[in-house]
Amino acid sequence: MRKRKFLKIIGGATAVLAGGTYIWAAPRAKSARIAWQSAGAYSDPIRSALSYAVLAPNPHNRQPWQVELLSDTAAVLYCDDQRRLPVTDPYDRQTTIGLGCFLELFVLAAQHNQYRAHLDLFPEGAHPKRLDSRPVARLKLTKAKQTPAPLFTQITQRHTDRKPYTSQLPSAQNLADLQLDAGPMLSSSQENRLCENLRNICADAARIEFMTPHTHAESVALMRVGRKAVRANPDGISIEGPFTELLNRAGAVSPQALSDHDSPAFKQGLKMYLDGIETGNSFFWITTPDNQRTDQIAAGRAYARANLKASALGLSVHPLSQALQEYPEMSEQFAKIHKTLSIQSPARLQILARVGYGRANTRSPRWPLENRLI
Ligand SMILES: Cc1cc2nc3c(=O)[nH]c(=O)nc-3n(C[C@H](O)[C@H](O)[C@H](O)COP(=O)(O)O)c2cc1C
Repeated sequence: MRKRKFLKIIGGATAVLAGGTYIWAAPRAKSARIAWQSAGAYSDPIRSALSYAVLAPNPHNRQPWQVELLSDTAAVLYCDDQRRLPVTDPYDRQTTIGLGCFLELFVLAAQHNQYRAHLDLFPEGAHPKRLDSRPVARLKLTKAKQTPAPLFTQITQRHTDRKPYTSQLPSAQNLADLQLDAGPMLSSSQENRLCENLRNICADAARIEFMTPHTHAESVALMRVGRKAVRANPDGISIEGPFTELLNRAGAVSPQALSDHDSPAFKQGLKMYLDGIETGNSFFWITTPDNQRTDQIAAGRAYARANLKASALGLSVHPLSQALQEYPEMSEQFAKIHKTLSIQSPARLQILARVGYGRANTRSPRWPLENRLI
């Protein structure tokens, strides 16, 4: 209550009383979110569909897509080598899932515009250990009468919600609906014992990732602290809000502070992540029969559909990927999570997410489509 006395919220901006004067702090960098408004504002079908695809969920919001336009109806999708996550995603598995999410949104947007999207995946092959300069997909659109794409309307509504969820469980019908849209690779559970095990593994894995210097350093390097930094680089892990502006000025949430395990900023960051996990009482996960690049793309497409469907149902989703990652310090949690979900090699767990009723509906920053064209 005391804290609230220091705040006046006027037209979305917040005045914070500090040192006897009010400091104005707008909540978030609006210019970093223009891509959400400009989606679809293109007259040619290929850029129209691509402008929705750039809103896809993707690991650490790296936005690894790069597109070469060939014509009004054709393009080639590449992975931007500078936007990989070499430490926590050493084989580009999650990056490929993010590219799969991009492709699913592309297909849905094309369908909405009465075009059929043809995807030729990895036409020149792909390296199993690392995405290289070869194309991820050739994209082609042909005019064709299409059935409605109900998930399309959620593309500009969907988001990732890392905040704690309420105790209300999604209904059994909700979970069945997620599977109906995402396909048979998606499984889900609300079983108490299983959810408790998953929460424990995810929390342990998060602690490992935060406390291992080189894995945490990869995240810290991608943190955009404060509006100015988010505007300059609308990607990565954005930390915004009136208090962030203040604390940033005081040096309390700088990237340096966030990398110091003893700093209040580091402790608070880990606590917030764990608090979210703690409220996970419904989970879904996506498993593929193998772990080829095409499996990873299929997992991304399924995850995008699940995230869009959840959004349509008023549900929040939060992927928890730490235990799924392939670096040595995570090997024990990696084995545990596969065992807990009875997934045996060559099958692979690609996405694990908690799903429930959340409160946050913040759009994450995006580079505009023009920035991702080559
Ligand atoms: C393969 C994949 C893995 C992800 N893993 C995590 C994760 O472990 N923790 C997390 O908070 N978000 C995770 N996310 C969500 C992304 O961080 C999020 O999609 C991105 O920041 C963009 O935000 P948006 O989904 O709200 O647009 C993951 C997303 C994908 C596609």
